[in-house]
Amino acid sequence: MSLNGEIQRRRTFAIISHPDAGKTTLTEKLLLFGGGIRQAGAVKSNKIRRTTTSDFMEIERQRGISVSTAVMSFEYGGRLINILDTPGHKDFAEDTYRTLTAVDSVILVVDSVKGVEEQTEKLMKVCRLRRTPVIVFINKLDREGKRPLELIDELDNKLNIKVRPLSWPVGSGSDFKGVYNLHDRNLYLFHPGKTVVERERRLFENLDDPLLDTALGREATRLREAVELIEGVYEPFSPAEYLAGRVAPVFFGSALNNFGVRELLETFLRIAPPPVERKADKRRVAPHEEHFSGFVFKIHANLDPRHRDRIAFLRVCSGRFQRYKPFRHVRLGKHVRFSTAYSFMAREKNMVEEAYPGDVIGLYDRGDFKIGDTLTEGEELTFHGIPNFSPELFKEVVNTDPLRHKQLDSGIRQLTEEGVAQLFVQNSGRRRIVGAVGALQFDIIQHRLVHEYGAACRMETLPYARACWITSREPAAITRFRRFNEAEIATDREGKLVYLAESEWSLRGVMERYPEVDFHFTSELDGSEGRTGLPQWQAAGGR
Ligand code: G4P
Repeated sequence: MSLNGEIQRRRTFAIISHPDAGKTTLTEKLLLFGGGIRQAGAVKSNKIRRTTTSDFMEIERQRGISVSTAVMSFEYGGRLINILDTPGHKDFAEDTYRTLTAVDSVILVVDSVKGVEEQTEKLMKVCRLRRTPVIVFINKLDREGKRPLELIDELDNKLNIKVRPLSWPVGSGSDFKGVYNLHDRNLYLFHPGKTVVERERRLFENLDDPLLDTALGREATRLREAVELIEGVYEPFSPAEYLAGRVAPVFFGSALNNFGVRELLETFLRIAPPPVERKADKRRVAPHEEHFSGFVFKIHANLDPRHRDRIAFLRVCSGRFQRYKPFRHVRLGKHVRFSTAYSFMAREKNMVEEAYPGDVIGLYDRGDFKIGDTLTEGEELTFHGIPNFSPELFKEVVNTDPLRHKQLDSGIRQLTEEGVAQLFVQNSGRRRIVGAVGALQFDIIQHRLVHEYGAACRMETLPYARACWITSREPAAITRFRRFNEAEIATDREGKLVYLAESEWSLRGVMERYPEVDFHFTSELDGSEGRTGLPQWQAAGGR
């Protein structure tokens, strides 16, 4: 097949949700449609449930699962679908943000009982920043939930995106009767408990059909009213607006009962974008370009502590990846070739000879990769959009055994390269501060430093709540700022200057006192943010 044929065939997306909304269940049902798995229960949730203080066996088990579910591919209706897995736990939000840089679209799952939850809002902010097309699936219609109009209003208000229902539920909870497809004008009747791929379809020429009353009873009138209302209020659905990230189509269903999932999948295949172009530092890179390029968005360490090898997950952005072919590792300025590269078809790891834009491949890594690294066929370019975001919790790592400082050094370096947390240093590297989004990450770091790297250390909590990357057009301004704030200044892994603030409030004060210094909330300094106060990320309501 031609390169263009391969590109047009692919759909690469992530399913995101607040934990427990049904992401794992929906993923599993989608894989069942594609024959990727044969039975329900085959996709393990990658949720990390915090039991007592910290359950390391559980974390290790989950780490194993997340390697195998990092990407799941299957074929359906002539398309090759790549689902990228995202951790549900909020302490791993940064991992999810990075995965969102590697997809072309997103399906957002919302629990009809709980409505829009905190984690949903945060994830949607990232999607909006990147203008990623989003389809919403409102799940658990078989339970007594919020009213559909209320849910639609909530999506509109809290997610800050125009929504457009493409299906409408008939009843809910014990009264849930089915879903009316507003586009095809089909009514799907619900049969609880069906876990097989099965449905009953009734076609109605118009909603005045008396058969509708026979099928639905009292709910028929309510459906007619709802449809009239929706069609009066909403513009016809525009696929172009969806692709521009301005309108999110909404579906209702029940993933557990496999209801409304096929409609979702079929619409997704009709409207979701094939691999799209991506922004690099020097130019935009289109998928159909002849030369290969791609970037690493996730790194996974081997679970066996005796082996330090890792898998780097690379999204192919243009051209063709070929096994054994030398590619340029732009950051290291050298050519590398890969004898081992994996694809993840139907959850099985297979060796790949070739991969195309939209594909995610796992590269065997002996420590050459960091998150954000770019591979090309020679061109010096680096893909944009994999910034570090400001962590919210900070701890100092203190070595407790001087004879094992090498183990600690290499452990911290490797763990931060994997993206488990961010490292900031002070005093020419003698003081090491680890910043993370969630407390669980510290437990993992401490555990892995001791068990995988043989280090001995303790973590001391620091009073910071924000890290801002600082720059200025006037070098003297930075010198002045450093002189008066030395204790709060550190450098990140790349040597960029970072200011550590104790609170949002104290940060605002500092920003006011030093108008000539620019404070950035992500490590990618040339974004939309700058002196005007808070960046888009913050202006949208904090992180
Ligand atoms: P997550 O990955 O988003 O965290 O959610 P997951 O799919 O694990 O689903 C969370 C819980 O919600 C699970 O129940 C799952 O069975 C249930 N669920 C998912 N879809 C539906 C639905 O359409 N209707 C209803 N009623 N429940 C749904 P659990 O008891 O936490 O786990 P399990 O013991 O069933 O695995």
